[in-house]
Amino acid sequence: MRKPILIANWKMNGSLQSNQALMVRLLPRLRLFRKTMDLAVCPPFPYLFQVRDLLGYTGIMLGAQNVSSYVSGAYTGEVSATMLQEMGCRYVLVGHSERRALYGETSQDVAAKFRSVLGLGLIPVLCVGETLEERENNQTRTVIEQQIQAVIDEVGLASLARGVVAYEPVWAIGTGKTATPEQVSLVHQDIRQFVARCAPEASGDISQELRVIYGGSVKPGNAFELFSLPDVDGGLIGGASLHADDFGTIAGALAEASGVLTGECKVE
Ligand code: PGA
Repeated sequence: MRKPILIANWKMNGSLQSNQALMVRLLPRLRLFRKTMDLAVCPPFPYLFQVRDLLGYTGIMLGAQNVSSYVSGAYTGEVSATMLQEMGCRYVLVGHSERRALYGETSQDVAAKFRSVLGLGLIPVLCVGETLEERENNQTRTVIEQQIQAVIDEVGLASLARGVVAYEPVWAIGTGKTATPEQVSLVHQDIRQFVARCAPEASGDISQELRVIYGGSVKPGNAFELFSLPDVDGGLIGGASLHADDFGTIAGALAEASGVLTGECKVE
């Protein structure tokens, strides 16, 4: 069974004061869910230490939004996986579309980051997704397969499944436009089938083990419907994760959709 997972991506938002206020409101809301799903909060780098302290022993994990593929050295402005590990991070986002689009990260760069995160025993969250133009040109499947293939080429298929894949259509991120359940369902199925095709001999296991989550304008109003889809194992939440009530409600929707509250889990 795949354990549901919900990750907050604060992006470049927050301050010492607002982080504290958000966490004080958020932690009691998440308490109910922390045993039945994996929960993580990814603040900007300078706040990792603060948020680690606020998370304490709640069981909610710390994550980072980016990482260098290098171990150490003359890479001004970069942060290594070792440093993130030392700060207590468990998850690291790699290849978020904002990194790919605004900072020119290629799929090969992202694959190298995936490797460095995994090498330290942390869990990489590989973000994949198509732009609106690519969708309109019927390239969605090709683009996503190439993004995943680059990671398989770098670390192998079995290692891919030690991470998490986040499907985030670029046109749905921060725009208020959510992909329809049909669109999400199709892509998530495609991802699982693609992984299965990559290793026919081990296909059953790896494609069924891999957690594939959705991100892109997930809100309290659409979370339950999206998380109820059979191939959706959770969410990567940007804007709504900055509001304790919204993120708490989204966690509740995931718990309900996955059947973890009742003990009847969605995936056998
Ligand atoms: P959003 O962002 O929820 O604000 O659309 C999701 C993400 O970029 O991870």
